[in-house]
Amino acid sequence: MRYLGNKTKLLAEIEAFAKKRGISGSTFFDCFAGTGVVGAHFKRLGYRVYSCDLLRSSYASQVALIEVSEVPSFKKLFAQKEFKRGFTFNSFKDAVKARVKAGAHPRMARAVTILQRFVEPEEGLIFRNYAPSGTHGRRYFRDDHATKIDGCLLRLRHWFREGVLSKHEFYLLLKAVLEGSDRVANIAGVYAAYLKKWQSNTKGQLFFPTPEIVPGPPGRAFCGDVNELVEQIYCDVLYADPPYNTRQYAAYYHVREVMAELHRVDDIAEYEKKLYGKTGLRPYDDLKSEYCMRRREDGQQRCEKAFQQLIEKAKAEHIIISYNEEGIISNEAIGRALARFSGVKNFDARRNYRRLRYRRFRSDSNGHNGRTYKVLKGQDADCVDEWLFYGRAKSAKIKKKSLK
Ligand SMILES: C[S@@+](CC[C@H](N)C(=O)[O-])C[C@H]1O[C@@H](n2cnc3c(N)ncnc32)[C@H](O)[C@@H]1O
Repeated sequence: MRYLGNKTKLLAEIEAFAKKRGISGSTFFDCFAGTGVVGAHFKRLGYRVYSCDLLRSSYASQVALIEVSEVPSFKKLFAQKEFKRGFTFNSFKDAVKARVKAGAHPRMARAVTILQRFVEPEEGLIFRNYAPSGTHGRRYFRDDHATKIDGCLLRLRHWFREGVLSKHEFYLLLKAVLEGSDRVANIAGVYAAYLKKWQSNTKGQLFFPTPEIVPGPPGRAFCGDVNELVEQIYCDVLYADPPYNTRQYAAYYHVREVMAELHRVDDIAEYEKKLYGKTGLRPYDDLKSEYCMRRREDGQQRCEKAFQQLIEKAKAEHIIISYNEEGIISNEAIGRALARFSGVKNFDARRNYRRLRYRRFRSDSNGHNGRTYKVLKGQDADCVDEWLFYGRAKSAKIKKKSLK
């Protein structure tokens, strides 16, 4: 999935970094989870994973990847009378078969195919706010894609509220809708703006991918500020990949956030009235991250203060930090916090630090919003260094007593 800071390409490196430092254990906390891919990777390795993120859209992925370890039954969904006849159609059976052939579990394939083929389009909030024929003429989604997304979100909302879908079933299907929608969104990587011209990715059909069920011990996902949670999670490994610049994820992914929280909204009309500005932004004061704030308070940047507090409160034996060379927290500040955590005077950069070079995710790679990136001296404009840091707790302060 396109997501700022997505670590899919660095998973093997992060695993190797951990192994090289002799890290082992049974619990892993991915505390800025984003897409959830890092937690999912360590779940596959056998860890019981905790994960957390501020955003609801991330929470959908986290539940699907981290909490679900077995394909749910979808019993009540499959028993819905309205689908009985449709299940006998060859077109439905073929669509399910095609997904199974591509590796999906038959029940999972059947559930997603219901959304894909039986749920009727509706003119709902997504159409009204993010499609050209909607109230505001915005061009995030083609009209037909927007109405299909609305149809599915409203159905999921209804099924969730009426108990037709369990929590796991709901989030698996919501993840499918979020990912399918993302593939046809008319954006340059992030939802901060839509593009005037329809991009080639918007031309195809809206297809909901079948969510993968990640093997491994079932974990636990959280939605909220990690600094408020971290003290309650006792883990062997804490992995922290905080935002590294002043761009708030809640603003950059606001349309996804709206999609991911509609099921929680009681009064959609009231909620909709609050969307504002050129892009139909969801008000996001409640989702602002301290890690994106460089303003100084009491002689310290807010992002550095938040980071320092996180490390001080961590109940982990091992800490791995991912950060970006272009980030607003200095590597000295990261090193200082880890040295304190390890009870040593100076951070040992030779042993506990690694630089990884990789091709950057460019949300504006086609140059549509004209942003230019700061290119560090001696650096290729398309490459960026990711830093990995390691710290080990000074004492056995870890009691295995996490939240259930
Ligand atoms: C660099 S991204 C993480 C990317 C992730 N490792 C991946 O591979 O997809 C940073 C994430 O931190 C989240 N975030 C920012 N501030 C947070 C906070 N205080 N508590 C929890 N999550 C936060 C953002 O919503 C964003 O998803």
